[in-house]
Amino acid sequence: MLGSDINPDNLPQHIAIIMDGNGRWAKLQGKPRVFGHKHGVTAVREVTEAAAELGIKYLTLYAFSTENWSRPSIEVNALMSLLVETVRKELATLNKNNIRLMAIGDLSKLPDKTRESLYEGIENTRNNTRMTLVLALNYSARWEIVEAAKKIADASIRKEIDPNVLEAQDFSNYLSTRDIPDPELLIRTSGEQRISNFLLWQIAYSELFFTPVLWPDFRKEHFLAAITDYQSRERRFGKTSEQILKTS
Ligand code: FPP
Repeated sequence: MLGSDINPDNLPQHIAIIMDGNGRWAKLQGKPRVFGHKHGVTAVREVTEAAAELGIKYLTLYAFSTENWSRPSIEVNALMSLLVETVRKELATLNKNNIRLMAIGDLSKLPDKTRESLYEGIENTRNNTRMTLVLALNYSARWEIVEAAKKIADASIRKEIDPNVLEAQDFSNYLSTRDIPDPELLIRTSGEQRISNFLLWQIAYSELFFTPVLWPDFRKEHFLAAITDYQSRERRFGKTSEQILKTS
């Protein structure tokens, strides 16, 4: 049985992953960076399958950041094509496994083909209920927060809301993740220990898990190890240990 060490009653509902290290993985093999991204797709597939099998409800993958546009155009183009290809290829499997595809980020700036295949994937899987796979594409958390602030300012000018009574939960409703619970666990691969403008608002109380494994090498066992580690932690949300023990 997958992940027999894992307590099914204490699973994160939402896991977010910063998939890092594709370039270094390729370099180690003397191959171009794109080779690493191609192998990264295998890890995407494995982790998606493992998450669905375990009963995780939301899996968010940082596939392309707003800052990634500054990479060499050959790499950007290859990543965009890889996305089109992967979404098309995996559509039947997503449906077979009852997985819904979603995307967050400024999709309007993506190449037409990438956006179209993404929309096709989203439309074709929208009634699936087992798990939601969220791709963060042309995403950055500061962009998302500024967009929310603009929408709030706009609604306030139109007198639809009163900004004086706005609370954190109301603000969340203006983010692209409005219908998604905050991730309880954030994983970053490749040994880097930063957040890189990913889900800054949503990870306020997330547990962070950093692993030296490069993304193309990341497999089910690494994913399960991250969840086991998560389950060993005490989540206090600003309270004392004693308070937590009393309420549990
Ligand atoms: C980070 O490694 C990886 C990315 C910016 C792209 C992730 C994309 C994929 C895994 C492929 C397609 C994804 C989907 C969802 C179909 P890096 O290039 O920053 O590695 P480095 O830090 O070693 O240079």
